Amino acid sequence: MNLKQKIFLDHFEHFILSATDGIIDSTLKEAMRYAIKAKGKRFRPLLVFSLANQAEDHEGVLVLATAIELIHTYSLIHDDLPAMDDDDLRRGQPTLHKQFDEATAILTGDALLSFAFELLATSSLSNEVKVSAVKILSQASGANGMIYGQMLDMDGLQQQNIHDLLNCYQKKTGELFAASLSLGNLLSDTRVEHHDLLRIGQMMGIVFQIQDDYLEAVTDTTVLGKSNQSDTKNMKQTYVQVVGLDESLHTIIQLYEKLNHAIIELPILTDHLIDLVEQMRKRMY
Ligand code: IPE
Ligand code: IPE
Ligand code: MG
Ligand code: MG
Repeated sequence: MNLKQKIFLDHFEHFILSATDGIIDSTLKEAMRYAIKAKGKRFRPLLVFSLANQAEDHEGVLVLATAIELIHTYSLIHDDLPAMDDDDLRRGQPTLHKQFDEATAILTGDALLSFAFELLATSSLSNEVKVSAVKILSQASGANGMIYGQMLDMDGLQQQNIHDLLNCYQKKTGELFAASLSLGNLLSDTRVEHHDLLRIGQMMGIVFQIQDDYLEAVTDTTVLGKSNQSDTKNMKQTYVQVVGLDESLHTIIQLYEKLNHAIIELPILTDHLIDLVEQMRKRMY
């Protein structure tokens, strides 16, 4: 991680936690903070930063980065619920429904989702940026975005063929990546075309998810900080199961090359984005 990214993340960790200060003291607040404090890799906030690193409105960047991380965190809490993937471990600690209970996990997810929009609405960002950000976040996380992908995942529709599987990955994971880039773009001096960011974000989501399946197949639970048996237990077809480990690794390498080419062609300074993609490629968990 480069120094600027590290400084941004330090500010981000402080900002996201203190954003909850105004919430009424309760088990709900405690659970929200439990989820927020757990060390995620923070790739989505770093994606926001990679596009908006030249912006003068530092707090505005933090607001947008926090909003997307809150939505991502809520999606993980619900993803781990017994009715979904039924997992016990997340980010190296008990999943929220294990640490608290199922009702608290459902409500904490709900609260984090609403909180993302509250934070945005009450921030000092301009009305124009707020409206654009609401549009980006709601579309990416909603019924044509991440939730649609989660539904495909639960339906097992993705099990039919590689095309369906990749569509599921693009939706459940790619949409929030693309949204992160689009949010950063809102505060960048040189605007990038929306469809270019969408294509890059979706490609990034697909390769990230294939790599996630790959890592789940070859890595210990202790290193992953989450179960390495989740897909097997739930009889979920993954890219790795369909094409095998070797072919998956080949696809991962190819997709990262394609991704880097697409990024280099963007009409902006892409150093931070290239750095971040390199960190993603090298990730072990
Ligand atoms: C996990 O995302 C869910 C997937 C989309 C594969 P991350 O791997 O970014 O999870 P955290 O935020 O680091 O815990
Ligand atoms: C999670 O996908 C994607 C979302 C939460 C939107 P997975 O279920 O494959 O990811 P992990 O393995 O639980 O992190
Ligand atoms: Mg899942
Ligand atoms: Mg899961």
